[in-house]
Amino acid sequence: MSFNKLKFYFYLFVYSRLKHTKLMTQNMKSPNNGFLGEIAKYLMVNFNKIIINDSVKKLNIKKNDKVIEIGSGNGQAIDEMLKLTKQNITSIEVSEKFRTELIKKFHNKDVTFFSNDAKDLNGIFKNNTFNKLLAVNVVYFLTPLNVYANEFYRILKMDGEGLLACKFDGIKKFDNSTAPNRDLKDVVKVFQNAGFKVNIEFVDSNNEQEKYHLIFIRKLKNGK
Ligand SMILES: C[S@@+](CC[C@H](N)C(=O)[O-])C[C@H]1O[C@@H](n2cnc3c(N)ncnc32)[C@H](O)[C@@H]1O
Repeated sequence: MSFNKLKFYFYLFVYSRLKHTKLMTQNMKSPNNGFLGEIAKYLMVNFNKIIINDSVKKLNIKKNDKVIEIGSGNGQAIDEMLKLTKQNITSIEVSEKFRTELIKKFHNKDVTFFSNDAKDLNGIFKNNTFNKLLAVNVVYFLTPLNVYANEFYRILKMDGEGLLACKFDGIKKFDNSTAPNRDLKDVVKVFQNAGFKVNIEFVDSNNEQEKYHLIFIRKLKNGK
């Protein structure tokens, strides 16, 4: 067995033993500089490629779309979105560790990074700024979720669309205080209450990491 395969299984083993703990869940939310942060980052790269590529494809980004991503992590979605839009891409990333790496990775690309928490982007973006919003594996951690939903509604243009991609099965053992939004129906209700029209797609798989819900949120003229 190669070193890389051994590393993968070792990290997976540690993760499976610790994922219910607050410390591991915190690292999955926003990796720190320690060993668990290293594992979290490694697993995100290896586990999230399918959900990210599918989400970007289904967000149907057009070349003139102004796109915002919440929680870009290691930037896999940005790589794909850069192929689709000619407009500057906005990335909101609260993790300093991720942000530093993202700025280095995309220094010569048309992407702007912000460290702000996505619940209040009032100082930086006017109402009705973006055509598309993407958040992959982020919604579980946002609290209180209704504040974020209202902010997403404010910054999206009329008829603008967002895609919240969630592996609810994969995170069901996460620590509840760090990842409280683990129920599809509850999440949908919050975004409907914020004024969005919501549609759901479920992608099934035998592999827990390749099974996910795509929650499409659209800001329509006549509200809900
Ligand atoms: C589980 S990671 C997902 C990363 C990437 N989207 C992926 O699927 O691989 C969650 C990301 O959301 C970011 N994040 C968490 N809370 C946030 C908030 N309130 N505002 C903006 N970003 C946030 C974290 O720093 C982290 O990069």
